[in-house]
Amino acid sequence: MKLQDCQSIEDLRMLAKKRAHKMVFDYIDGGADDEKTLRENSFAFDQYRFQHRVLRDVSKIDLTTKLLGKAYRTPIICSPTAGNRLFHTEGEKAVASAAGDRGVVCGLSTLGSTSIEEFAASGTGPKWFQCYVWKDRGLTRAMLERAKAAGFEALVLTVDMPIHGHRRRDHRNGFSIPPKIGFKQIWEAAKRPRWTTDYLLSPAIRYANLDNTTSATSLASFVNEQLDPAFGWTDAEELLRDWNGPAILKGIVHPDDARRAIDTGFGAVSVSNHGGRQLDRDITALDALTGIVEAVGTRADVILDGGVRNGGDVLVALGLGAAAVSVGRAYLYGLAASGAAGVKKALEILEEELIRGMALSGSIKLPDIASPIDLRYI
Ligand code: GLV
Repeated sequence: MKLQDCQSIEDLRMLAKKRAHKMVFDYIDGGADDEKTLRENSFAFDQYRFQHRVLRDVSKIDLTTKLLGKAYRTPIICSPTAGNRLFHTEGEKAVASAAGDRGVVCGLSTLGSTSIEEFAASGTGPKWFQCYVWKDRGLTRAMLERAKAAGFEALVLTVDMPIHGHRRRDHRNGFSIPPKIGFKQIWEAAKRPRWTTDYLLSPAIRYANLDNTTSATSLASFVNEQLDPAFGWTDAEELLRDWNGPAILKGIVHPDDARRAIDTGFGAVSVSNHGGRQLDRDITALDALTGIVEAVGTRADVILDGGVRNGGDVLVALGLGAAAVSVGRAYLYGLAASGAAGVKKALEILEEELIRGMALSGSIKLPDIASPIDLRYI
């Protein structure tokens, strides 16, 4: 299949699987332990159905949403994700440019392979900076200052990774950033010549916002050595003061944590279990959504992140009260399949599916989307 023939995110996934090195595809595609939460995150969406409405003028669909007091063209967001240049040499810049072309908010991960400044200069769209908290607080502060100076609109503080989840596929494949090159990796590289040529011709891949001496350990050991598992609410408050701007707390699945986030000063929460990559057996992001929407009320915006693989899923989350829906794997499959063109394709597919879903269900703008019916409870 060629990129132009892809009709769904699943098609892009299959294309990514064909092009990318096994360790790369598995890193994107995989989750923690038995991958129960990874599977269930997506499965949760399949339980919902709409009851469409008729004879409403759906000739113009308005996707506008409001987040952190600002209007955005679409409720679809590109989540911050690590090491994009390993998936395709165009990396994070390709994501920023494809997202920018469609007015999609795009996040840069602390563990990105493109620098804060280079990412900020790529594409024309709104950008958010995602922060993990390092044991070295000076490093965290320095990153926030750089992100502020580079014009990032908001801070995303991710808090569901106090330690690294156990991702069996990554362990089996010996995944790391930069990659370790052993017999297994060379064998798999030979099977994926397009990825391998791209990789060999690219400048060295590393965490671009950390120091140059970071060695090729596994991502798990790197995170466990460098991130601060003792970080708590008081520290979050202090970090917010340092940032002094709009901020989102990401990785929330409990209503009490959502309430506390707002009391602490976050303007939005991202309901997320890190795409099923951290606690296996965690509640799905979608199942956590309703309780959090109720707990938060009108005090903050709620973003859903996890399991979204098509525009119908976006419609379900919006119908259940999310102000926006953030996707990671969905655009990464596009990136790994074909760089910026693949990301563009992924975003086009999601938006077209969302618009079609809205028109066919009789929703002209986001507040019109009715709550979907949960088939488990009828
Ligand atoms: C990084 O955030 C990861 O989930 O691998």
